[in-house]
Amino acid sequence: MHHFHLLKTVLVKKETNDSIHIAFEVPPHLRHEFSFKQGQYINVRFIFGDDDLRRSYSIVNAPTEGNSQIEILVKHLTDGKVSTFLNNELKLGDEVEVQAPMGHFYTHYHASNEKTYVGLAAGSGISPVLSNLKEALYQEPKSKAYLFFSNRSVNDIIFRRELDNLVEKFQGRLQVIYLLSREKHFEDELFEGRICADKLEQIFSRYTEIPVQEATYFICGPSEMIKDISGYLKNSCKVPSLQIMYEYYAAPDDDENAEMSDEFKAIPNLESMVTLIIDDDEYSFHLNSKKRNILDQALHDNLPVPFACKGGVCCTCKAQVMEGEVFMEKNFALTDDEVERGFVLTCQCHPTTNVVMLNYDV
Ligand code: FES
Repeated sequence: MHHFHLLKTVLVKKETNDSIHIAFEVPPHLRHEFSFKQGQYINVRFIFGDDDLRRSYSIVNAPTEGNSQIEILVKHLTDGKVSTFLNNELKLGDEVEVQAPMGHFYTHYHASNEKTYVGLAAGSGISPVLSNLKEALYQEPKSKAYLFFSNRSVNDIIFRRELDNLVEKFQGRLQVIYLLSREKHFEDELFEGRICADKLEQIFSRYTEIPVQEATYFICGPSEMIKDISGYLKNSCKVPSLQIMYEYYAAPDDDENAEMSDEFKAIPNLESMVTLIIDDDEYSFHLNSKKRNILDQALHDNLPVPFACKGGVCCTCKAQVMEGEVFMEKNFALTDDEVERGFVLTCQCHPTTNVVMLNYDV
């Protein structure tokens, strides 16, 4: 279930100066394994020399658009080896190692719903938000969607043409409002700057037809933006948490030194026998609770553990605790319900009992 498959590129197209739109063809024998939900992501893997590099990219297309292709958008990051390769060297027809879609940044749609969906996206955060809004519009003929999308400048607007086409296609049901953070382009100050709580308050007072408390929100962008606007929606607008979905790009900056947290210092210093169940096989190793996390030790021992971000964001390394207890340092990916059911992110876990068993297959 954690295997990578070689998928061929059928689209490699510059989207903006620093981003590329890629589509992979899913051959018929993999369509079941690669069937996806709106807002999910895939992991890609590249072996560069001794480095096994994995990256997660959100799927841009919507399930209703078909299951024969998976599209992603890759923003070029300075010093990003994978994003540099994908932006500068990937060609049409190249094969890339891709893992089946995963993630839970989505809600369920029903044809009888008459709802309002609000997308709040910054830059490449558009991908999973767009996938969700498209699916909502395809699946729910009576629902409406608003997208507030911030980019640095007009030339940086990702998927501008597709978005404008969608506005026409779903006439009266989709509104796309662009905000620009580094270019004065519009007459109206409302459309200048980034999306933040203050900006959202102004947006709501302008777009009074949005039923703020009843709407469902999809947020994807930098961590400060997510924290700011999800806090505003919950605390000031009293939007129920279940209606606010967000997806992090990367771990929040202020968590970089989290291994030094007081909670981590307080865990017992002990030797543990850790057993991992991966694809029906069992692997065991000794691990000191204060040393490496469980995923790093497993990788050090060359075990076939699934991973991508190693930062508590992507959820690829998720496993369920079957025996013993672990301390999880960060979690930006699991839902409260998953945590209650004993799921953990193994890239963030240290054993806190002498025996620990984790199952990756659930
Ligand atoms: S590898 Fe991404 S959350 Fe652990």
